[in-house]
Amino acid sequence: MALNTINPTETNAWKKLELHYNEMQKASMQELFQLDSSRANTFNLQWNDFLIDYSKNIINTETIQLLLELADEVGLKSSIADYFEGAIINQTENRAVLHTALRANVSAVVKVEGIDVIPEIYEVKNKIKAFTNEVTSGERTGFTGKAFTDVVNIGIGGSDLGPAMAVEALQFYKNHLNVYFVSNVDGDHVNEIIKKLNPETTLFVIVSKTFTTQETLTNSETIRKWFLSKDFGTTQEDVAKHFVAVSTNIQKVTEFGINPDNVFPMWDWVGGRFSLWSAVGLTISLAVGYDNFEELLQGASEMDEHFKTEEFDKNMPVILALLSIWYNNFFGAESEALIPYTQYLQKLAPYLQQGTMESNGKSVGRDGKPVNYQTGTIIWGEPGTNAQHAFFQLIHQGTKLIPADFIGFITPLYGDNDHHDKLMSNFFAQTEALMHGKSAEQVQAEFDKQGVSEEKAKFLLPFKVFSGNKPTNTILIQKLSPKTLGSLIALYEHKIFVQGVIWNIFSFDQWGVELGKQLANSILDEINTKTVKNHDSSTTFLLNHFLLNK
Ligand code: F6P
Repeated sequence: MALNTINPTETNAWKKLELHYNEMQKASMQELFQLDSSRANTFNLQWNDFLIDYSKNIINTETIQLLLELADEVGLKSSIADYFEGAIINQTENRAVLHTALRANVSAVVKVEGIDVIPEIYEVKNKIKAFTNEVTSGERTGFTGKAFTDVVNIGIGGSDLGPAMAVEALQFYKNHLNVYFVSNVDGDHVNEIIKKLNPETTLFVIVSKTFTTQETLTNSETIRKWFLSKDFGTTQEDVAKHFVAVSTNIQKVTEFGINPDNVFPMWDWVGGRFSLWSAVGLTISLAVGYDNFEELLQGASEMDEHFKTEEFDKNMPVILALLSIWYNNFFGAESEALIPYTQYLQKLAPYLQQGTMESNGKSVGRDGKPVNYQTGTIIWGEPGTNAQHAFFQLIHQGTKLIPADFIGFITPLYGDNDHHDKLMSNFFAQTEALMHGKSAEQVQAEFDKQGVSEEKAKFLLPFKVFSGNKPTNTILIQKLSPKTLGSLIALYEHKIFVQGVIWNIFSFDQWGVELGKQLANSILDEINTKTVKNHDSSTTFLLNHFLLNK
């Protein structure tokens, strides 16, 4: 079944939401809290180790009711069923979208074009498990018989961001292997990484769904050339011991010199930006061990179940998606901040930037017509408290409305409660401050207490007033573990899906990225041949300057 093609702005719910927005646009959260002392009880969700408090939003029960009506009117329920059942919902590429099958139970049956894919998924998972165990135990060795000490993941986009984010997030659970990531085609970066490596004990994992991506192939070739340099006494056969690949393109991988036994297959129904659950996550498994990788998948699987079966008013991904639509499409908010209060999640925002913006950065509806409303939100963020000392000023007192998700954990991993209580007091204080702001009366009272002169107080007062009323969601999780990380990632994946369904766009293609790739290849030819062809005058001017001075 294809997804519906309903323009959301033509639904009854949307029209009602527009009217409702006229009432709510000036609503003050401070007042809403005063009017209803049990507001936090109404607007919170609890599931497994997760608590989401969404009471600090410019909403009332009617807002949620109307947003839920919108979800019903666009057929979200049947879209979710299509998504999990392997329907061809990525219609522009004629593919199913089944990253969820990668974490499904072994007894599940998920069919793509009539064939159950679960057995082959488990075959690859077993291969990942065996390989991980061989590498981490030292049973599998490099060309001089030494155990591997270092792993380099070579890939870009979804073949880098997911593994890099998860390995960083799960550092606490890491084993002895040093793990590096090479993604950018920037040769300086590759050389900086190479400097740290010993060819005898380094394993290279080339990750490319297509095995045609310029950056990944260039980096892989540079590294292979380094690996085969005379000084090391390596031979072509040694490449097979040190290079493994994750790809759908088995032919190209073998042409590169990789032993077919060391190829970890993936499938075209796994989108790059949702692929860490597949063999793309091999580096995660190597870094934290297969059991932890399995736990990550289990966490995602449990979130899948919640998303699939829970009523929409208690459904975490659905509620987060609807709130985001409320701000994006009615309040005109352009971006959302993601603020994890743990340094471990420092790569979560860049990871979800690809997930969110490559998926929902679309301006043509599923009916082939340009959309007449805003789609994809801009995602950005940094861990708190660092973020507080960087860009929070603009969220507190700037002119833009920036809804933010605050993600925090109750239990610190090293048990350092002194640090953790300080960290978490900032976490709670910020959402409270963003909601309450600081009134002129409060500022004046502080001046009075400090004995500030009347003249000075008059001057300073407007700068010290915070309007507040800045919306936040608080996502409070018991502890950062492979399992809760899996659930957290799946939470955002499903939020992206829900938004794509409502915005009536295709979330699982990325044609926009392809144009840049094509142009880069033709400009590379011109650079190589030193012949600048027909461009606009700016590009011609820049290319000539580059060629003249290089
Ligand atoms: O950025 C575009 C993209 O196609 C992503 O979707 C993908 O994650 C990335 O390039 C890498 O592609 P591949 O895994 O085929 O090298």
